[in-house]
Amino acid sequence: MAETGTDIHKAQQLLRQGKLVAIPTETVYGLAADATNVTAVSRIYEAKNRPSFDPLIVHLHDVSQVEDYCRDVPEIFHRLYQKFSPGPVTYILKKTERIPDLVTSGHNTVGIRFPQHPLTRDLLKESQLPLAAPSANPFGYISPTSAAHVEEQLGRKVHYILDGGFSKIGIESTIIDLSNETPRVLRLGGLELEELESVTGKIEVNTSSSNPKAPGMLSAHYAPSKPVLLGDVQKLIEENRQKKLAVLSFHKKYDHPAVRCQLWLSTRAQMREAAANLFQSLRELDKLDVDLIIAEPLPEVGLGRAINDRLRRASHR
Ligand code: TXA
Ligand code: MG
Repeated sequence: MAETGTDIHKAQQLLRQGKLVAIPTETVYGLAADATNVTAVSRIYEAKNRPSFDPLIVHLHDVSQVEDYCRDVPEIFHRLYQKFSPGPVTYILKKTERIPDLVTSGHNTVGIRFPQHPLTRDLLKESQLPLAAPSANPFGYISPTSAAHVEEQLGRKVHYILDGGFSKIGIESTIIDLSNETPRVLRLGGLELEELESVTGKIEVNTSSSNPKAPGMLSAHYAPSKPVLLGDVQKLIEENRQKKLAVLSFHKKYDHPAVRCQLWLSTRAQMREAAANLFQSLRELDKLDVDLIIAEPLPEVGLGRAINDRLRRASHR
């Protein structure tokens, strides 16, 4: 068991000693270490069982720290920062040598995020530490949206869990690559594409797993241990009627004897609520005595895009 609490001084002390601390953010919980301490950073990869080719995001308190860790910062960054940070967006920028290669898996760019959760903002402000933090789950599994989720899976590998309650957004940050002439989205996430485009104009989205710029966007990811099928729910139920089924839908109710349990992402059909419930629901269904989880895709707009992206990866075999 890891100690859990809200003591940012304790968290800061442990981070300065090179220890791992789980931190709450509005998207998902992160597994944090001092980004400038290579030994500490190597503990993140070890604890998550994460391949070293998959780079980490660095969390900062505010824009005044950016020049320390990034160079050739383009003007578009400042416009996006003004509008969306702190918040659920990560900027890929060219890095300075103060960011160790281990953090970026040898890339000359680094992902920078300014999280919004007040507890983590206090920690970042007090400590002024750059915190390298991936989502606090074993590699490939569902991301955690509460302190209990972190405890369940990484309790023995982390020194302290800063408990900030449930993550309000519940889906990881949107990643935008600003290290080239033309901005590109590498991961759909908590900041809606439409919002982003209100500043950038029409933007290219490349979230494919073969994209060498986002090595972590593997086809199979965010996955429960039970198989997930994504598609027309009624049809999938019929095709698998011999099995014990669980259904995860947006708001519709599906009745069938083979369905042992159904969860709704939002009975009011709200995207925000659906995103906030997504990972918690997948976790719950994964614990049931069923053979298969059948999931319904959401409308492909706003946060629905990011939710569908996670469901597709969760269902990839
Ligand atoms: O919302 C979030 O972004 C959460 C919270 C904790 O901040 N963090 C998170 O980290 O989701 P992680 O490590 O689970 O996902 C980060 C993704 C990975 O797919 C990684 O490959 C990509 O960001 N990434 C990190 N640095 C990159 C870089 N320099 N270039 C391209 N992709 C990068
Ligand atoms: Mg992750």
